[in-house]
Amino acid sequence: MRTTDAREDTAPATRTVASVIGGNTPEGSPGGTTRSVNPARKHETVAEVLLGDAGTFVAACRAARGAQGGWAAVPAPIRSQVIKKIGRIVERNKEALARLVTREIGKPYTEALGEVQEIVDTCDFFTGEGRRLYGQTVPSEMPDKQLFTFRMPVGVAAIITAGNFPVAVPSWYLIPALTCGNTVVWKPAEYSPAIADALAKLFKAGGLPDGVLNVVQCEGPAAFEGLERALEEDLVDKVGFTGSSEVGREIGALCGRHLQSPCLELGGKNPLVVMPDADLDLAVEGALFSGFGTAGQRCTSLGTAIVHESVHDEFVSRLARRVEGAEIGDPMADDVLYGPMLSERFADRFVGFLDMIEDHHTVHGSTGTGRITNDNPRENFVGDPEAGFFCHPTLVSGVKAEDEIFNTETFGPLVGVARFSDFDEAVELSNAHGYGLSAAVYTRDSTTALRFREGNQAGMLSVNNSTSGAEAHLPFGGNGKSGNGSRLSGIWVLDQFTRWQSMNWDFAGRLQKAQMDVADLPADLDFTLPD
Ligand code: UN1
Repeated sequence: MRTTDAREDTAPATRTVASVIGGNTPEGSPGGTTRSVNPARKHETVAEVLLGDAGTFVAACRAARGAQGGWAAVPAPIRSQVIKKIGRIVERNKEALARLVTREIGKPYTEALGEVQEIVDTCDFFTGEGRRLYGQTVPSEMPDKQLFTFRMPVGVAAIITAGNFPVAVPSWYLIPALTCGNTVVWKPAEYSPAIADALAKLFKAGGLPDGVLNVVQCEGPAAFEGLERALEEDLVDKVGFTGSSEVGREIGALCGRHLQSPCLELGGKNPLVVMPDADLDLAVEGALFSGFGTAGQRCTSLGTAIVHESVHDEFVSRLARRVEGAEIGDPMADDVLYGPMLSERFADRFVGFLDMIEDHHTVHGSTGTGRITNDNPRENFVGDPEAGFFCHPTLVSGVKAEDEIFNTETFGPLVGVARFSDFDEAVELSNAHGYGLSAAVYTRDSTTALRFREGNQAGMLSVNNSTSGAEAHLPFGGNGKSGNGSRLSGIWVLDQFTRWQSMNWDFAGRLQKAQMDVADLPADLDFTLPD
């Protein structure tokens, strides 16, 4: 196997991980125990996990509530010094954390390094933001009176994240939430517990006081029940959730009953439109990366390439050739397009989605479909396919807007191709699935690019770039089935983790009534310029 020294995992020890509440590990495992396995080597246990239950979640929220006043009282520039130190500590541990990401969820090592870098970038951004967190001074309509706005921390933030980006996406919530003076209860994905434990340790090393960041290792239903109870007990002020649209709806409904607006970052069926004037090789490169990178398990993964009829056949044949020739397999090897699925559950679910392939579709891209095994092999496989949960890449052409496959997020290495004949049809198809996370257009014409941006409903648009690969300081989020309009990252996430407080300060020494005690300067409203 082609590995470099930095990639050798010399101590692939099994660790035991548990929740962390108020700086301590709670007694026992009321939610049972589970094992997290390396999805590329399923016989290798990465961690034994002591699971909490709904009560553990509530206890974590109580600890976060107890710590919040003290943390908010730390001046923001000092809080952001902690963020700065976390960034440096993560940077120092970049390779170790990336190796663990590869080991526990199977993301290729080079991508895992990029993912860890995203934490560092986010820390860098919020290190500066702690010295800003600007409010405004606003003129009053009356003399001897001044108006102000302040950003107030929301309070306790409950953050529930998926494991496909097991450190980058959590950091998009945790870092701004903490910078803004909130305390956090983080429930990571069930299939990335060791990664979550490692990230929490790196955060703690940065100097977070006990109770400021609490981690609950539990199953999804326990977290949901715990969240419900914590909201009833008034222990949670903000919910952040990255995951499926289906669960997002449930969380949105629960939060709505408690008059809260959660930050929801949900699924996608992200289109990539190829116009007749596109640089076809560039479009193919973009489709390959966004369709099959992370085995198609990104919320920003390419769903359907929507290709003009004049270049359709050429695009399909070039993309099929690239997919067929790509190496897939051991995620520690160089240059694999993707490794295993995140876990067995994701592999099984993906195989189920293949039933959506219909007779009018044509399948390309591999020597089989479904799980890669000795009996269903893949040419260009690196390593032993039976060792893990690997799936064939699947390119499906002939997709139409009414097909189930066009409208369903398949969360795996599957890309559909549909054809169009005029621009309006391309725009319509790009919105027709009802998601609105990310969309790409490949064209050399600036008017087409701008018109596409205007017509597409996604929260994130790419021109001559793939649907994946958001930078850490641009707003990230979607519309429609992809979310409720909330945005993560950069200055935009501040509106998730702070609330505006306004203040008016009257120093006139007498009551001045707004709208009533207001001067009106005379004007000649009938004035007209002479002809
Ligand atoms: C996700 O899958 O939830 O832009 C986030 C990207 C990644 C983030 C994806 N940086 O594709």
